[in-house]
Amino acid sequence: MKNAALFLSVLGLLVVVSILPSCSKSSNNNSTKPTLYDSLGGTAMVSDPANSGQMIEKGRLGIRSVVDSAIFVIAGDDSINPYFMTLLAEVTANNFSGFNELSKNLTDFFCVGTGAKDFTYSGLSMANAHNPATNPRISEKVSVNAFNEFIVDVGKAAVKNGLPSNLINSLVVVINSQMSLVVQR
Ligand code: HEM
Repeated sequence: MKNAALFLSVLGLLVVVSILPSCSKSSNNNSTKPTLYDSLGGTAMVSDPANSGQMIEKGRLGIRSVVDSAIFVIAGDDSINPYFMTLLAEVTANNFSGFNELSKNLTDFFCVGTGAKDFTYSGLSMANAHNPATNPRISEKVSVNAFNEFIVDVGKAAVKNGLPSNLINSLVVVINSQMSLVVQR
């Protein structure tokens, strides 16, 4: 029932977002409306539960928690995990170097995309990251169905981490803004 509600809410958003003009960033330049990053806790420093003795921005911790959960949800989702064959083979062999790299890149990407000011994204462009010709770690080009399933999985990860539905909806808007670059077939 909970899953059905989540699915319907994500589906509803997909419909709404797909009729919006392309929006890579929030369109209000001079308003003081908090960004999604602010809503997740912004730049307030908290201790990093994954690295004892270190501090982390609360917004980044929120994003990283959703990203790491999402990687695990996707790993267990047979409809899209074949894209991640390289990563899954590494993790199965107890090698987490690719996981850590992907976690960092995705976290940086979503921090920037949700309004963080203290981080930059230094990974591949979205087009190159999702083309096997330029990123051998992806098994094939992404279909629109796989893209939609990715959103469902990120939604599940966000629910697991206790994000309220308005923030999940904002995250889905950020993800959808990348669709034309990620889906290449
Ligand atoms: C808006 C949605 C998405 C974003 C923002 C995103 C972002 C990223 C980023 C930042 C990377 C790492 C690039 C690098 O290593 O420099 C990556 C890699 C990858 N993405 Fe996506 N992605 C999205 C959707 C998808 C979808 C829908 C799929 C497939 C269903 C997918 C499959 C992959 C795979 C297989 C990799 C390589 C993972 C690895 O390093 O082992 N992505 N993506």
